[in-house]
Amino acid sequence: SERSLVLVKPDGVSRGLVGEVISRIERKGLKLVALELRNVDRSLAEQHYAEHAERPFFGDLLEFITSGPVVALVVEGPRAAAAFRQLAGGTDPVEKAAPGSIRADFGLEVQFNLVHGSDSPESAEREVKLWFPDL
Ligand code: GTP
Ligand code: MG
Repeated sequence: SERSLVLVKPDGVSRGLVGEVISRIERKGLKLVALELRNVDRSLAEQHYAEHAERPFFGDLLEFITSGPVVALVVEGPRAAAAFRQLAGGTDPVEKAAPGSIRADFGLEVQFNLVHGSDSPESAEREVKLWFPDL
């Protein structure tokens, strides 16, 4: 069994989609092992998205992810990272996310794509430590 870090991003929280996301995680069969509503400071945002530091959208991404509270979760189950990525859908809600996924069902724009999920078991380990150091 494996763990993954999931975020309901500020757009998902402000649009009232936290319950929807958690419901889909639970129905998939992933187990919730941590859950917290929290504000993200710039340092946490920079560390979380460090791999994108050189991208042209990095500034916008930091501003967005620190713009309001997020819900951070750790989920657990077989192939948890890949399983949640399947629920989330591809990065672009219109061009890439499969119909029926969270991003396809609720999103329109690549920046406002509602959720984050660790992209591999290795990323998950790093991100779980970053967000929930006591876990
Ligand atoms: P995360 O789960 O949030 O990491 O998304 P992802 O793994 O599907 O995509 P990626 O890691 O490549 O990009 C991280 C986040 O940056 C995305 O979820 C988007 O919110 C944002 N992003 C990616 N590409 C673009 C872009 O071209 N423009 C803008 N404005 N934002 C982007
Ligand atoms: Mg990513």
